[in-house]
Amino acid sequence: MADTGRRKLGILISGRGSNMAALVEAARAPDCPYAVALVASDKPDAAGLAWAAERGVATFAQSPKGMPKADYEARIDAALHDAGVELIALAGYMRLLSPAFVERWAGRIVNIHPSLLPNYKGLDTHARAIAAGDAVAGCSVHLVTEELDAGTVLGRAEVPVHADDTAETLAARVLVEEHRLYPAMLAEFVRTMTDSPLSRIRSLALALPEAAESEEAGAPSFTVGDATFARLSGDDALEVRAESGWQTLALTGDVDWTLVGDAIARGWELAAPAALLEAGGR
Ligand code: GAR
Repeated sequence: MADTGRRKLGILISGRGSNMAALVEAARAPDCPYAVALVASDKPDAAGLAWAAERGVATFAQSPKGMPKADYEARIDAALHDAGVELIALAGYMRLLSPAFVERWAGRIVNIHPSLLPNYKGLDTHARAIAAGDAVAGCSVHLVTEELDAGTVLGRAEVPVHADDTAETLAARVLVEEHRLYPAMLAEFVRTMTDSPLSRIRSLALALPEAAESEEAGAPSFTVGDATFARLSGDDALEVRAESGWQTLALTGDVDWTLVGDAIARGWELAAPAALLEAGGR
């Protein structure tokens, strides 16, 4: 498959980047549906950046030190956009993304987490699994929402916990599974994204808090609370709630999915009940 037919992936890392490397290696396969357009890091000396640069992958580093988080994220965001990135994979990126950043990329950020989610969100997952006496540990690939490690799980891989395991030995065995699971789940996710405009719209809309799918006049529509924020119109248009009524977006030709994602997120915000917005719904 030529790179032009592939979805452009941006990978965010903070350290050695072994999961990033697994994604880059998997992208060599002729049928891989994504191409790695950029590897970016909050740590200019991250080992994974050098690894990627040596292999001819574009890299970008921006330390967040000494600047407001919004400015730091705006620079990462600009680098991703400049590289034409369409979706983001977090791969050992050890920084919480702000709600505003997640909103801009809603439904288009995936992460790998070293536990069987929803168990052990956050840090020290292996030590916690051992301390709890779990017989099985593992890893999960999930969509990123503003709540830590809480988005839809796309896939999990299980790893047995041995009686003599330490957090380090268990982490090493789980990591082997991470390298298998992440490229496979990401490829599957990208394929569903590219299947049809409806499946892409579905993944964008349903990534928003408390969004649900229903039917209006026989066409798929997306609601939050009692209000519709997006609905299909015929086979080739999407109507999205806007300040001035409904905005119609064409789904034919070269669709700008970043723009569609932004419009859907704005529509959600206009439709969401005040209580959900006040609760920091996104
Ligand atoms: C991986 O085990 C990944 O699952 C974990 O950090 C490690 C990064 O290794 N991520 C998290 O804990 C995120 N909450 P890598 O840099 O070699 O991919």
